[in-house]
Amino acid sequence: FAQETKITVREDQNAPKISKHIYGHFAEHLGRSIYDGFYVGDTSAIPNKEGVRTDIIQALKEIQIPNLRWPGGCFADTYQWKDGIGPQEERPTMVNSWWGGVTEDNSFGTHNFLNLCEELGAEPFISGNVGSGTVKDFADWVQYTNHPAGSPMAKLRKENGREEPWNVKFWGIGNEMWGCGGNMTAEYYANIYKQYATFMNASENNENLYRIAAGATGDDYHWTEVLMREVPKSLIEAVGLHHYAVIDWKAKGPSTNYTEDIYFKSMKEALKMDEFVTKHIEVMEKYDPENEIDLAVDEWGGWYEVEEGTNPGFLYQQNTMRDAMIAGATLNIFNNHSERVKMANIAQTVNVLQAQILTEGEKMILTPTYHVFKMYTVHHDARLLPVAFDSPNYIFNGESLPAISVSASKSETGSTSISLVNIDAKKEHKVEIELEGLDVKKMQGQILRSGKIQDHNTFDDPDKITIKDFKDFSLKNGKLSMVLPPFSVVVLSSKK
Ligand code: AHR
Repeated sequence: FAQETKITVREDQNAPKISKHIYGHFAEHLGRSIYDGFYVGDTSAIPNKEGVRTDIIQALKEIQIPNLRWPGGCFADTYQWKDGIGPQEERPTMVNSWWGGVTEDNSFGTHNFLNLCEELGAEPFISGNVGSGTVKDFADWVQYTNHPAGSPMAKLRKENGREEPWNVKFWGIGNEMWGCGGNMTAEYYANIYKQYATFMNASENNENLYRIAAGATGDDYHWTEVLMREVPKSLIEAVGLHHYAVIDWKAKGPSTNYTEDIYFKSMKEALKMDEFVTKHIEVMEKYDPENEIDLAVDEWGGWYEVEEGTNPGFLYQQNTMRDAMIAGATLNIFNNHSERVKMANIAQTVNVLQAQILTEGEKMILTPTYHVFKMYTVHHDARLLPVAFDSPNYIFNGESLPAISVSASKSETGSTSISLVNIDAKKEHKVEIELEGLDVKKMQGQILRSGKIQDHNTFDDPDKITIKDFKDFSLKNGKLSMVLPPFSVVVLSSKK
């Protein structure tokens, strides 16, 4: 091998907690995400609970899904929530103008979504319509979901069969307002944001609202600067940020049959997340040194060409070991910035973009991305352990990227966990980890790897890539040694 990489992981009682909401998910009315994805309807032969597939519910419970963002995305700023309540057969239809121009029959609406979140034990995160909605409709939605009794919206909710409010905490105020949300300037949106946030105070539970301003994309630091400068702290809890690993919007490359050149470019785009998060946080610190406003990366993931023969507006793509690399490295970035990054939502959960779950008829498969989320559950709400090291390089065509990414945490029960990703497509890397101030005697490991970077699970071979036990490490006198195989994700946790 190349040289051994020395890593230190140290105890720090003052380090922040890694919010479990960093491990959030996203379900938009897009392609086969909701319809023919989550939702098959309660008359389907596919086992379901209130129309939602029970195999999907089970799979998401197993990764301890902390929150689910809905109904968009771009769809959110076209969505009229009142069309999605009441008797299903009476609901008006609409055109899903962003995604394939298909008819949305509104059969999956607010009740379906919020009941699903209850079933999952996940916090709902509703992205409200700002772009084509009204302040009143938005305020009514908050009342409908959160007001206990005695208001017109609480009455309507009860008439529709739900007595108790759901007490929705997470609210996105529009989505991508610089683009599909209305092509606004940051200055214009900051004013609109304040208007919407002001009238969301209609509910008795208002003090529990967590309002997320639609954020910048990538390196648009001006957007964050304007929001931080213009919006008073009393009206905002978090600022959003979106970043997709796309190599070129006009030629996104295939999801499975890609070259190492494309792989390298995808990883380069994905790893830019570190720089973006760091610099947006710097802007936020200028206006909020007290660290009261959070950064919510409420859309992220790999974005490729759709699978051949599928609707281009449906964004259906396969998911390979490249996606496992993107997921593992990105989640490490969020963990290491957990001082300010308190929420993130991978795009998207089922059948869209970097999905955790793919379905075909009654079949369902779990993707390599899903397995990474499963391995990383050890970090949910655990205290960050700071990590220091210089990564070896992954070199391709004379360009280089850091090959290794690491994050670590200590759970409330005292278990130390370390997640390591080696994105190098060809080389294994030897690492030695010094555990400073951590009394760790025994660890157990898991690994996600495969023979080829393009490998993926299919409906015919659903378990080609699964989590395996990893025993190939040694732990002596607080020093862990191991060899990380090419393009692998390893998670180690201490045991008593
Ligand atoms: O996730 C797909 C789309 O990507 C979302 O609807 C939009 O917010 C983003 O541009």
